[in-house]
Amino acid sequence: MNAPAQISDHKDSAPSPAERLWALASAEMAAVDTLILDRMQSPVGMIPDLAKHLVGAGGKRLRPLLTVACARLCGYEGESHYKLAAAVEFIHSATLLHDDVVDESALRRGKQPANLIWGNSASILVGDFLFARAFNLMVETDNMRALGILSNASSVIAEGEVQQLAALRNIDMTEAEYLEVISAKTAALFAAATEVAPVIAGRSEAECSALKDYGLKLGLAFQLVDDALDYGGFESALGKSIGDDFREGKVTLPLIRAYQSADAETAGFWKRVIVEHNQKDVDLEKAVSILRAAGALQSTLDMAHQYAVEAREALNIFPESDWRNTLQDLADYVVDRIN
Ligand code: IPE
Ligand code: IPE
Ligand code: MG
Ligand code: MG
Repeated sequence: MNAPAQISDHKDSAPSPAERLWALASAEMAAVDTLILDRMQSPVGMIPDLAKHLVGAGGKRLRPLLTVACARLCGYEGESHYKLAAAVEFIHSATLLHDDVVDESALRRGKQPANLIWGNSASILVGDFLFARAFNLMVETDNMRALGILSNASSVIAEGEVQQLAALRNIDMTEAEYLEVISAKTAALFAAATEVAPVIAGRSEAECSALKDYGLKLGLAFQLVDDALDYGGFESALGKSIGDDFREGKVTLPLIRAYQSADAETAGFWKRVIVEHNQKDVDLEKAVSILRAAGALQSTLDMAHQYAVEAREALNIFPESDWRNTLQDLADYVVDRIN
């Protein structure tokens, strides 16, 4: 499938904001990775085997990178950010293990999802273990407020996933409901990842709230782009299958926007493939061309861009520095990303 022109498929030779942020934080991110590998160990062999399959396959490590970078932005000099960053990645990993069971995905981080190798039960139980390990790490930091923020995000993510499940094949889902779902299932963890940094650094309420807002807007932009890429990206770059949302009957913003402007025939198409869940081989290709013609992928990316602008602005409360500039540029990367 060709990507729409708006979703770029080229890579500039200059380092991306994510790469620059990685370079700034590389020593600290190496410490986070060591902690992740250490704390996913267990005498029950299936746990490290399965966890290694997912964690060893890479992933962007975007959320722990945010915790580390925001801690540096806040001038934090302690060591709790390593544990919180590892906890954030464990929560993310747990949700991915559960998500691939729920979504019946065929590809994760360019590999077979763990549940297709070890089975659904093993993936769910190891996901539970990683969730619990995240809480061990959080408690070790002895910071009740950070623990509160991350435990709240964990229950909100689960709520978002359930809300999305309940809305499956509901073509009348509103934009407001969609935004509620993505705020919960994705943006809540981004917001928690960024908010815990000023909290452990003992910064002002205004700074805590600015960083929470930055994470929230970044997370919304991230999921909006993800939902556009599910129709217009490349599997090889994404490491995930294209068309999962369509096959599942999951209603995301591109579909909501296209359905709003559909004529009777096109509305009939969406009802057959989404509501009745009666899909033929050619239907995904047809869906993508309808979405493109309706400008629905572009308008989804436009909304992501707007959130990225707001994420950028949220950081203006901090004086200019390499950390602030790179975190601001990361908002643009999230919108331009191809993986
Ligand atoms: C995947 O997140 C789940 C979503 C919120 C779309 P990422 O795209 O950050 O996954 P990895 O960690 O890089 O694999
Ligand atoms: C992402 O869900 C959010 C969580 C994992 C909680 P998706 O189902 O939209 O993400 P991908 O496309 O599988 O990564
Ligand atoms: Mg999902
Ligand atoms: Mg999924």
